Amino acid sequence: MAIERTLAILKPDCVRKNLQGEVIARIQKAGFKILGMKQLRLTSDTAGAFYAVHKGRPFYDGLVEFMSSGSCMPIALEKENAVSDFRKLIGATDPKEAAEGTIRKLFADNKGENIVHGSDSPENGKIEVAFFFSERELV
Ligand code: RTP
Ligand code: MG
Repeated sequence: MAIERTLAILKPDCVRKNLQGEVIARIQKAGFKILGMKQLRLTSDTAGAFYAVHKGRPFYDGLVEFMSSGSCMPIALEKENAVSDFRKLIGATDPKEAAEGTIRKLFADNKGENIVHGSDSPENGKIEVAFFFSERELV
């Protein structure tokens, strides 16, 4: 299996609930290496650009509003098989459908406010890490 990068974002609900440390601890225990981490508030333009693939979907406007509603924490991660392993760690998009013990099952309220983002392919992992981090911020 190849070493991959994946982008996590602790979403505004995670920050509002003060669950950052709890979620980061689970990410570290699962063997991910943190290459970079920051806290920022997305504008609606930037949130819209990040999730541009969903433009036109019924949930897009709500997603952009939610993602720009408060601080979030993008985290660049590296590990063997990172993309798929991270999605396993966080669970299904809708916490009702997420497996027991996953981050979304444990902490998310609903499908819209689901605590954490994870890249969906190794190519997107690279693109999304570069969306938030310059190469010199990754160590
Ligand atoms: P993410 O990109 O945030 O890691 O989530 P995901 O891959 O599991 O799900 P995706 O299909 O990419 O959807 C992106 C985010 O949009 C919100 N969403 N709401 N209410 C709904 O039906 C709905 N569907 C998607 C969620 O915040 C989801 O994580
Ligand atoms: Mg997605």
